[in-house]
Amino acid sequence: MQPQVKWGNPMTVSSIAASSLRLQGAAGSPLPSLPAAATTIEISDVFHGFDGREVLRGLCVTLTQRRIGIVGANGSGKSTFARLLNGLLLPARGKVRIDGLDPARDLRAVRRKVGFVFQNPDTQIVLPTVEEDIAFGLKGHKSGAADRAAKVTEILDRFGLADLRQAPAHRLSGGQKQLLAIAGVLITAPDCIVFDEPTTLLDLRNARRVGQVIADLTQTAIVVTHDLPLLAGFDRVLVFDQGRIVADDEPGPALRAYVERMT
Ligand SMILES: Nc1ncnc2c1ncn2[C@@H]1O[C@H](COP(=O)(O)OP(=O)(O)OP(=O)(O)O)[C@@H](O)[C@H]1O
Ligand SMILES: [Mg+2]
Repeated sequence: MQPQVKWGNPMTVSSIAASSLRLQGAAGSPLPSLPAAATTIEISDVFHGFDGREVLRGLCVTLTQRRIGIVGANGSGKSTFARLLNGLLLPARGKVRIDGLDPARDLRAVRRKVGFVFQNPDTQIVLPTVEEDIAFGLKGHKSGAADRAAKVTEILDRFGLADLRQAPAHRLSGGQKQLLAIAGVLITAPDCIVFDEPTTLLDLRNARRVGQVIADLTQTAIVVTHDLPLLAGFDRVLVFDQGRIVADDEPGPALRAYVERMT
């Protein structure tokens, strides 16, 4: 069957303007430091495999929207694809460009531009207390200690973690660790954030909190998920199957195509 692919062309000026309008704050005021344009991700003829088995099979896609969802069966290659986007993995064949940067040559610049939230937050938590772990993302920033502390306070409040500021990070619940991991990436203010199943460990309230955080982001968000309601309001959804993109559309039709395949 031919893949159902709607998005062939880069985003037009008018659609960027429409996306920007959706990024107004609740009271209509613009959110701060809106990147001038969404991150452009170009993937051409990308193949990758493990142990002689092909996992990504000739992917070609250009992503220019601010909210992009990725769904697909277990093992269909979603996380492998996501890891290409900030150079955690380099493709065996094919081209990956992030705002023109090649992760094979400009890894540091790509890592600064694209943050990655892992499915397993233990992968991401590196320092003993919640406060230290969050502040780690600001290491090397030229701002003063008071400014850094204010940023940590702001993000802890935003994620409902303020009461856990001094708590040992490894003693948090799985869901609290997931929130901490997301906060630790957001504080570094990348242009684009890739989330690999950000709500898997979360209860309903925290899943909604993360959904709202993603909706409010001024940056590009690429979200791999099995939590389909999370993608309501997204600009675009890619459906993966056996290492290929088999549907690429607005959330309604893309998710219908996915559900049809899975039933
Ligand atoms: N580091 C690795 N070594 C060997 N095989 C791997 C590795 N990473 C992924 N794979 C294999 O590649 C295939 C695709 O894995 P991937 O994690 O991309 O799937 P996924 O779509 O994210 O699945 P899920 O929904 O379960 O997270 C799987 O068969 C997996 O076993
Ligand atoms: Mg995965």
